[in-house]
Amino acid sequence: MAISIAQITDLHLLADPEAALRDCVTTARAAGVFGALKERSPDLLLLSGDLSEDGSPASYERLRDWVEELGCLAIAIAGNHDQPQCLAEICGRTPFINESVYTVRGWRIIALDSYQPKRVDGWLGAEQLDWLDRRLGEESIPTLLVLHHPPVPTGVAKMDAIGLQDGPEFLNLIARHRQVRLVLSGHAHQAFIQSRGSTTFLGCPATAMQFDQAELPAGWRSLELEADGSWRSQIHWVPASSALALNQ
Ligand SMILES: [Fe+2]
Repeated sequence: MAISIAQITDLHLLADPEAALRDCVTTARAAGVFGALKERSPDLLLLSGDLSEDGSPASYERLRDWVEELGCLAIAIAGNHDQPQCLAEICGRTPFINESVYTVRGWRIIALDSYQPKRVDGWLGAEQLDWLDRRLGEESIPTLLVLHHPPVPTGVAKMDAIGLQDGPEFLNLIARHRQVRLVLSGHAHQAFIQSRGSTTFLGCPATAMQFDQAELPAGWRSLELEADGSWRSQIHWVPASSALALNQ
């Protein structure tokens, strides 16, 4: 039986649920996506960073409440806008998975931390890369990695300037581990797909504003992972009208 995953990213929630960020009421848009997810009942939610814009406890509490209401497990990682300590305090217990490595139905899911204090760009660092190399060396089942900053160029120069600064080291590492089938990221506020060797790199639209096409509504990505290592993925858009109809 396949595992059904929903990736949602770059929510940029604010303490005030009616406040706007660049003309985008981020809480309402994220609420619309959670409403859409209720109809799909994913097995696992991947929240790939910039969950809060202001790092406020209220924003993480709202996110925790939505996840609890959805009723599935979740993995939450920090983006450059987050406050990792506050995120961990509020979203660090069930239904959030508080482990970096999670094995489910023949797949391994590994969450990476590319957050750097007071910086917009990302960095994994030698210690984390060594750790990842060891973990990948111990198990060869199909593996999905998730991190906030895209490790590959997105083609948008100003975004690539603030991407994963040790991306080349990361790419060299995973090239030695052919079981890494998928690498998911946020940060770019746009979808993309790239393949390198046996690995596919997927970017995801934000639930907040999209950088490349501001007129697009909130988006998210679904994934179905099969035990034989194959997978399917799709982008979904949630019109603003459905966001307005939902509770915040
Ligand atoms: Fe973001």
